[in-house]
Amino acid sequence: MFNPLRSVEINTYRFVHPRVADPQRGFRIAQISDVHLGRWVKPRHMEQVVEYVNENEPQLVALTGDYVGYNDSDLEPCIKTLGELAPRTFAVLGNHDHWTCPDTATDAFEQAGIPVLANRSVILDDFAAPIEVVGVDDHVTDNADIDSAFETVGGSNFCLALNHVPSIAPDLADEGADLILSGHTHGHQFNIPKFTNWLAKRLGVEYHVGPYYIDGSYLYINRGLGSASWPWRIGAAPELTFFELAPGDHPRLELLRTEELAVEHRP
Ligand SMILES: [Fe+2]
Ligand SMILES: [Fe+2]
Repeated sequence: MFNPLRSVEINTYRFVHPRVADPQRGFRIAQISDVHLGRWVKPRHMEQVVEYVNENEPQLVALTGDYVGYNDSDLEPCIKTLGELAPRTFAVLGNHDHWTCPDTATDAFEQAGIPVLANRSVILDDFAAPIEVVGVDDHVTDNADIDSAFETVGGSNFCLALNHVPSIAPDLADEGADLILSGHTHGHQFNIPKFTNWLAKRLGVEYHVGPYYIDGSYLYINRGLGSASWPWRIGAAPELTFFELAPGDHPRLELLRTEELAVEHRP
């Protein structure tokens, strides 16, 4: 059956920032968001995305929430598949994970060896230079606690923040996040740019898809891989994103290349 979610756009960006240290040049982060495993995205679909990420060997993977649609029985198969990711991986939960069963999700991530950063941070000091990774829990379900998440963050280390709902990104930038990775919006799924921009303005939605510069930091909103409802996507293809770090005086996010992964339907 035709399924528009099977064509995944892979965008690779260079992220230039003064807090990226020289030894971190070329460090790569992959972002997977809004899998919504269920009716349209099956474990076999995700296995191919995971294989693609593993073959490309990023140093870090950020999972930015909404692993299922509405069924808690989909949580374990989704997270088990994500557990096959070879690089160091961190996760935050999204609104759909809270609407289903956050405890099941957190337990499944623990079993998969993937820490859930629910309003907390970790310092990774086993790479070329230390990196602070901060996870902010879901804002839609009122679980975000930015103060707790950034409690131990400070200093000159590059700071990566995982945060499902992009509307709170300015507060994260204020706290010292240099690169904020979000999802949730699906790029509206039906994205007709002029109309979507007009509608977003009318609705007061400031951050809806792609990169945004915020006071010396960058927010990137990934369009996600799946759909909680119908699979149709117009002008908002499913997305997998890679970020390559580079030091530089002026923050910028540059698109280096766009590729396509055609996910095959395997029996
Ligand atoms: Fe979502
Ligand atoms: Fe969401």
